[in-house]
Amino acid sequence: MLSSKEIIAKTQKYGTNNYQPKEVVIVKGEGAIAYDPEGREYFDMLSAYSALNFGHCHPELVATAKAQIETLTLTSRAFHNAILGDFCEALAKLTGKDKVLPMNSGAEAVETAIKTARRWGHMVKGIENGKQEIIVCRNNFHGRTVTIISMSTDENARIGYGPYTPGFKVIEYGNAEALEEAITPNTVAFLVEPIQGEAGIIVPPAGYLKKAREICTKHGILLIADEVQTGFARTGKLFACMHEDVEPDIYVLGKALGGGIMPVSAVAANADIMDVFTPGSHGSTFGGNPLAAAIGLKAMEILVRDNYAKMAEEKGAYFISKLKEIENPEIIDIRGKGLLIGVEFSVSAAPYVYKLIKGGVLAKETHERTIRFAPPVIITYGQMDAGLKIIKEALTKH
Ligand SMILES: Cc1ncc(COP(=O)(O)O)c(C=O)c1O
Repeated sequence: MLSSKEIIAKTQKYGTNNYQPKEVVIVKGEGAIAYDPEGREYFDMLSAYSALNFGHCHPELVATAKAQIETLTLTSRAFHNAILGDFCEALAKLTGKDKVLPMNSGAEAVETAIKTARRWGHMVKGIENGKQEIIVCRNNFHGRTVTIISMSTDENARIGYGPYTPGFKVIEYGNAEALEEAITPNTVAFLVEPIQGEAGIIVPPAGYLKKAREICTKHGILLIADEVQTGFARTGKLFACMHEDVEPDIYVLGKALGGGIMPVSAVAANADIMDVFTPGSHGSTFGGNPLAAAIGLKAMEILVRDNYAKMAEEKGAYFISKLKEIENPEIIDIRGKGLLIGVEFSVSAAPYVYKLIKGGVLAKETHERTIRFAPPVIITYGQMDAGLKIIKEALTKH
């Protein structure tokens, strides 16, 4: 096998420069542990941005994937397959919704939610087509398509990609009054992350989602929760909206739904909303394919059976309590819910990340000054303690 250095050089030579990965090559993963070509072990505390809630290569998910690969992998939606119905039923029951529309990446699910809301605005609310507006929040992260970056406030994600898609209004995150003020007769939806992940694990004030729910209901607009990163137990509840007993009109889901094996995403909502779709009005060759559906179905079974929400809640509380013991005046905040945790510094976090990785903990800064800690939900207490020892050493100001 090539060395880490050689692998990085080849990737940089032939791969496009749209990422700047940390100088670690992962060649094998098992639960919360990742291995490099030199056989070094790391505690994975990023979990592929929460896609690895089940850890690397969960044995049951791998067995399900293997069995399905040997049976049937792809039909397209030109024909039915035997598993899609089971997958949709399981996700509908998990979200408490009537209908599910499967896609692949998180961005595609967000696009699907935008299309759903716009069509609903036109067909159900009678808004003139082309006039539909969706309200979003500053510092949002919903993906990378042209329409999605059109509603982004991150210049680095936007610059040079115009013309941008119109129809979005940006308001301050965490401010329910700003939401009410931004609503017009053409508003169809409010699209929000229950916790802003990429923005730096920004937890909104308590009661924000509840107020947003009330405002959306009062004005007859859809509340769309982008739970691509927060969903499937990451924050200590099955979905982060549940922390405030809020039921969004549309769930946008992805990442962990694919069990860390396949890109699997979906939108879930009730029939009065999803019935705006008609044959041919939306779709994807790979969305709902039998392999993805089998893995997603198994992932949901494991999630509920093993009570991942409780695991994330308890382990997250333990993790945060240990992080709070670290003495460093450059740490200005430690926040999060469940196992979605941010440590914010008053200075650039990159040198601290370097020390973490050198010590054997995989983590990455987001928005320069915040390090996200989001280990797989299945991480053991022993692994957490060993990882926390490294974290303590790396983040303490000596
Ligand atoms: C909240 C949220 N929405 C959407 C996405 C986009 O998902 P994907 O990268 O699978 O397109 C992400 C990815 O980080 C996300 O965090």
